[in-house]
Amino acid sequence: SSSNYKNILVSSPEKGVTLITLNRPKALNALNSELFTELNHAAKTADEDAGVNAIVLTGSEKAFAAGADIKEMLSKDFSTAYKSNFLGHWTELTQVRKPIIAAVSGHALGGGCELAMMCDVILASSTANFGQPEINLGVIPGAGGSQRLTKALGKSLSMELVLTGRGLSAAEAEKHGLISRVVPEGGDVVAEAVKVAVQIGKKGQIAVQAAKEAVNASFELPLAEGLRVERRLFQALFATKDQKEGMGAFAEKRKPAFTNE
Ligand code: HXC
Repeated sequence: SSSNYKNILVSSPEKGVTLITLNRPKALNALNSELFTELNHAAKTADEDAGVNAIVLTGSEKAFAAGADIKEMLSKDFSTAYKSNFLGHWTELTQVRKPIIAAVSGHALGGGCELAMMCDVILASSTANFGQPEINLGVIPGAGGSQRLTKALGKSLSMELVLTGRGLSAAEAEKHGLISRVVPEGGDVVAEAVKVAVQIGKKGQIAVQAAKEAVNASFELPLAEGLRVERRLFQALFATKDQKEGMGAFAEKRKPAFTNE
């Protein structure tokens, strides 16, 4: 249960929204195995809870997460890493069907940047510092940094970041499409992310989950197959009450009351 978590905090700032806060301040939210197991559990719990529509994931002012836990990794050898499928469980988060909005302040480095990129929307405060500094540790990104970053930023900038380990400011991240937007100074990135979650919560949730599935298909499939997935999902939504309600409400010039059926 949530009271047993040692490395994260779970709360509900608004109806239908689960807020997960990474909470290992002494290590700048370095992502050790226990933290990630707790994060997976909390996200899965929210995904299975019919009262939850969207998840917000955040860290602290100083760090969203400063990476995988270097001290935990230091003495690992290949056979242990391979046999235990080290970091394999990180991808569980990408199986969550409800939208996850990352609210990033401070360092989002290495595995921290990769974690943010596993989310569906990234909002950042002006203090955010993204990067893949693994090259400085004698390794490379291991949880999507070479793949998701490249899809977001293109080859040249991703190569520069991954090969030099330099950071990417919030402004640069916004300019190059890694994040959806920077919350201006004085604003509250978590509150802003919760607002987005609340907005999403007002829609029909079958359509929301189908939309997430369709957008994600674009990262995995060739265009023709992606378009087929999109069209099938679109057609399938005509079997929902929410489609009749949404289009009916438009025609009758009233607000829709979605029931997620
Ligand atoms: C373990 C970490 C850590 C990490 C910080 N800490 N990052 N511990 N793993 N990734 C710990 C520090 O050891 C220190 O502990 C405390 O957090 C505070 O950090 P400082 O370095 O004192 O803070 P500061 O001077 O403000 O510098 C912040 C920083 C720096 C620039 C973010 O901490 C840093 O460079 N961290 C490592 C970033 C990194 O290389 N990330 C990639 C990791 S590899 P003590 O006990 O000394 O107080 C990775 C691989 C992913 O993520 C592959 C697949 C998942």
